Amino acid sequence: MSITDPSSDTVAAPTAEPGANQLWGGRFAAGPAAIMERINASIGFDRKLAAQDIAGSQAHAAMLCRQGILSEDDARRIQAGLTQVLQEIDSGVFPFKTALEDIHMNVESRLAELIGEPAKRLHTARSRNDQVATDFKLWVREALDRLDAGLCDLQAALIEQAERHAATVMPGFTHLQPAQPVTFGHHLLAYVEMFGRDRSRAGAARARLNECPLGSAALAGTPYPIDRDQTAAALGFDRPTANSLDAVSDRDFALDYLAGAAIAAIHLSRFAEEIVVWCTAQFGFIRLSDAFTTGSSIMPQKRNPDAAELVRAKAGRVIGALTGLLVALKGLPLAYSKDMQEDKEPVFETDDTLALCLAATAGMVRDMVADPAAMRRAAERGFLTATDLADWLVQELGMPFREAHHVTGRLVRLADDQGKGLAALDLATLQGVEPRITADVYRALSLDASVASRRSFGGTAPERVRAAAACARERFL
Ligand code: ARG
Repeated sequence: MSITDPSSDTVAAPTAEPGANQLWGGRFAAGPAAIMERINASIGFDRKLAAQDIAGSQAHAAMLCRQGILSEDDARRIQAGLTQVLQEIDSGVFPFKTALEDIHMNVESRLAELIGEPAKRLHTARSRNDQVATDFKLWVREALDRLDAGLCDLQAALIEQAERHAATVMPGFTHLQPAQPVTFGHHLLAYVEMFGRDRSRAGAARARLNECPLGSAALAGTPYPIDRDQTAAALGFDRPTANSLDAVSDRDFALDYLAGAAIAAIHLSRFAEEIVVWCTAQFGFIRLSDAFTTGSSIMPQKRNPDAAELVRAKAGRVIGALTGLLVALKGLPLAYSKDMQEDKEPVFETDDTLALCLAATAGMVRDMVADPAAMRRAAERGFLTATDLADWLVQELGMPFREAHHVTGRLVRLADDQGKGLAALDLATLQGVEPRITADVYRALSLDASVASRRSFGGTAPERVRAAAACARERFL
């Protein structure tokens, strides 16, 4: 039997006035204004929840049957019908209707077209409020898993490059001013740590999310003898939610996801900025592959790092998504309000954005070719071993650090005046400032000696970096 009017996008309700909604039309004499239908409908985006909606309905129907609330026969027909609905959605032939507002009513209405009477029993002991909370949690759980996998893949790319460049010396910066020599591998592993924390945030958000709202019904629970443990287990949740009012109005899980995503996005943005800087002619630390650069339509020499620039910029969208949802939720009284329908698009958009940014960043990292000679040339400018010189004065001459700092400062000024590096000053010049300096000091002034000396746990010494990379493999991959 068909309960829809095939000639239009609206629904003719068997029990309601013409034009009124079939699902609640009993109370209504007329249908909605066209603009009401448009502002109210979420089917344009929440169709993404189709698979989760059907999984939720199948778990619910199975539970209703086991509890004797639904007959075996009705349950069988509902399960088969829902499977068919999912096939129609997957194959792109499902007739989505704006008049049916959202994914929940689209699915239920199509089920009624397919199996008739039993479809009307599926909505026993539930509401769209617990339904949407459940569907959305299932979706966000998968998004968290996708985020984790994308971050893991990027970590793998970074660790591979870090191993290759465990001893490649580059300038380390503070204030973007040359500070001390570090290794390129050490620098890349810093991002492995950041993305590791992002993964741990995703894991924590997943664990917090994993309670099932289904069976909370509209807001107060239900008089039917349902078994919420059954549906929770069937959908892979750890347990049912403890409070029905909270369950239908909680969107913390979406905020948790977006907050974690925003932090990951700023990590990606910071790294993207470094890539942009590193591949300038002035730095020349890395060369991006042709696959991740673009040319200019007017300047033939250009190789622009567009992918990195876009990753840098797209953090704005993700932060905007988080901000938007925070503002939408603030001030909402218990329990469900339609404001909450605005929760989905920011999350969907963030999932797309991060997938793109993670894949592009991993691609850039895998393809990029470092230029160790350019990094070393840069490290030779800027007196990067000045701290090592001060430390030598402390360790070899027993000078107090403050005094050593002062002596070193004078030597740096001398070298600067002469347009030389510290290691290029001759011994007589050094002794002119501090007579006790011996030729042994040149040991401290080499870049390689400087990085090799930083063997403290978490430091930049190549042997440490190799060990840290091996450890990162264990921890993250
Ligand atoms: N489309 C709605 C949403 O996403 C589903 C819940 C509707 N509930 C209601 N009481 N109108 O929030």
